[in-house]
Amino acid sequence: MSSAGSSTVFGPATFCAVTGGSRGLGRSIAVVLAGRLGEGSRLVLTGRSLQGLQETKRQVEEKCPNYLEVKLVTGDMEDPTTYPAFFSDVFANTQPGAFKNAMMIHNAGTLGDLSKKAAEHSDPQILNKYYATNLTSAIALTAKFMEVFSGSGVRRTVVNISSGAAIEPLEYHSLYCSSKAARNMFFKVMAEEEPDVRVLSYSPGPMVTDMYYTIKSCGVKKVEDGCRIMESQGLIQNPDDSAQHLLTLLEEDKFKSGAFLDVFDRFSL
Ligand SMILES: NC(=O)c1ccc[n+]([C@@H]2O[C@H](COP(=O)([O-])OP(=O)(O)OC[C@H]3O[C@@H](n4cnc5c(N)ncnc54)[C@H](OP(=O)(O)O)[C@@H]3O)[C@@H](O)[C@H]2O)c1
Repeated sequence: MSSAGSSTVFGPATFCAVTGGSRGLGRSIAVVLAGRLGEGSRLVLTGRSLQGLQETKRQVEEKCPNYLEVKLVTGDMEDPTTYPAFFSDVFANTQPGAFKNAMMIHNAGTLGDLSKKAAEHSDPQILNKYYATNLTSAIALTAKFMEVFSGSGVRRTVVNISSGAAIEPLEYHSLYCSSKAARNMFFKVMAEEEPDVRVLSYSPGPMVTDMYYTIKSCGVKKVEDGCRIMESQGLIQNPDDSAQHLLTLLEEDKFKSGAFLDVFDRFSL
């Protein structure tokens, strides 16, 4: 791994916000990033659990003790009425010109109710909360990011943490699949419209996180069997390894903006 601040892409003072930084892949991204961000960088981590965010901060600071500012912002993406204050906090005290790089990593995500088939999602309030958390929040937060980092002189990158579920229909995952599919297309359109912004949708692969344990014990035999098959094939990874792969992709910087890349190169889109 690069030593702290020596990376070409992350080396200069970087602003980076990671949603869902309180556990799982978001924590891994934060910790792996910490060793690469240059002096004057700021890492903003969001989530509902302050305790989880504080533990991520502890791990980041253990790795990168002196010069990285780590800011924690708690908020619930389920409730769009909170977005103006929540998202303002994410970018508070961001002086134009203070950062050479600005990066927004949309990682927070939920599975939705895995007991229901596509034809059974009848409650619009539950649906609105689900899509607020998994789609609307990423769109609205991207708009805020673009507003704050609107000037030239800053290299902007937006990462959408996606999934194979964005392109493969999985039974009982209709909300999850549809939100990931919508996000992929949203960010493809953004890449077309914003040629100065680097946009990447990244499918991290199955990883040992809380989300994976929820899938593995969801009560739907076919889904649970799918987990066991992936495990027997050695496909379940440590989130640190997938985070590392993402950062390598960003550092190599060879992807076409708007691309959808998978950790195992399973899809070519
Ligand atoms: N694990 C896998 O096998 C897998 C496979 C493919 C793609 N992915 C994708 O990878 C990303 C990370 O997943 P993970 O496995 O790390 O999941 P996870 O362990 O369940 O973590 C989810 C993160 O999202 C945050 N979050 C959930 N609901 C939220 C809400 N209402 N408001 C604000 N933050 C919320 C959580 O923070 P709080 O609880 O503190 O709010 C947590 O930090 C997701 O986008 C997921 O779709 C995961």
